[in-house]
Amino acid sequence: MKHDEQVRLLKQLIHQLDTGTNLDAGTVLRNPASAYTCPERAARERELFFRKHPQMIGMSGDLPEKGSFLTLEEWGARILATRDESGRFRAFLNSCRHRGVQIESEARGRRKRFVCPFHAWTYSSEGELVSIPKADHFGEIDKSCHGLIELPAVEKHGVLLVHPEPEGVIDTRSVLEGIGPDFDSWGFDHYVNVGSDVYDMPLNWKLAIDTFGETYHFPSLHRNTLFPIFHGNVQGFDHWERNHRMILCVREIDQMRHRPENQWNIREGAFPVYYLFPNVIFNVGRHSLTIVRVRPHPEEIGRSISHVGFYFDPEQLDSPEAEGTPQEFFESFAAIIRDEDYAAASLSQRSAESGLQKEFLFGRNEPTLHHYHQTYNEVLGLPPLEPA
Ligand code: FES
Ligand SMILES: [Fe+2]
Repeated sequence: MKHDEQVRLLKQLIHQLDTGTNLDAGTVLRNPASAYTCPERAARERELFFRKHPQMIGMSGDLPEKGSFLTLEEWGARILATRDESGRFRAFLNSCRHRGVQIESEARGRRKRFVCPFHAWTYSSEGELVSIPKADHFGEIDKSCHGLIELPAVEKHGVLLVHPEPEGVIDTRSVLEGIGPDFDSWGFDHYVNVGSDVYDMPLNWKLAIDTFGETYHFPSLHRNTLFPIFHGNVQGFDHWERNHRMILCVREIDQMRHRPENQWNIREGAFPVYYLFPNVIFNVGRHSLTIVRVRPHPEEIGRSISHVGFYFDPEQLDSPEAEGTPQEFFESFAAIIRDEDYAAASLSQRSAESGLQKEFLFGRNEPTLHHYHQTYNEVLGLPPLEPA
């Protein structure tokens, strides 16, 4: 992020602190509780937000070298992502062209060849069918036409995007709108993966995303965890089409503001959080990047799965300023996000499912929640949310 922009955003936070104000979205909005429970809506979200929309599946650091691979099973498809022998990011259906058996069952690793467990057809990391055992017995087929089925895949600004459908199109510019310059300035394409975690929780995927959308709850829900580190009910917010950026306020700003502006660093005095439509949150620490990718449970509307990826600046991995060991970092992240945020939002899910509470409210100091939900409604072709 350009230094001028860092200073602008930090000054905005300092102004809020000095004047006891927060951002003002201008109105309170009502959101129907059925947004988190309605089966028809959930089916349309799965179709329009997930199955027919490019998905962020990880960062460049998840495929660190030629021959690296990654598998996932989402959106009704099994995916095999590779970094091929030329270094290019590729994605395929993880499904053998013989009779559709999954060719790779490990979550991640490194391989030159993928051998199907059923009859041992073998594929390269370019997806080519390289060998068929007893090919003369099997009968003649054109190997060049029976490679793995390829999915559209793009690697940009350190982000790995895949379209879940072979004939899908990725409009990279619009999908990554707004985030590229900041990600490039911090070199996220070089960040290394230091671990991952999964939280399977009883709350709709949008309620999980909502928990990242405001700092109003810091002094209460996170009284003993985040609030000693962050000022609550203070934040920056900018949006670009469907994506946005929040700036959370770290208490370090209280010291930093007294230093010359040319020494200000937004990753010390603040904590940028980016949202990539529809379901990814990027949390930018001093030397770390923590990504939360939330997906709906395939059958239960009131359940979601959060895939958490931890990445680190390779130059700071062993530095004394590193933010604890990776294990300590995962544990403290889970203790806040899973055990505080998601645990609280699971109670909202119960209220929504009761059918007795018809709506939830998004305050003037919660502009990010306005943006999430107005965006969802727009993509679903629903009318905008109404003021309270
Ligand atoms: S199903 Fe893969 S080799 Fe037969
Ligand atoms: Fe929170």
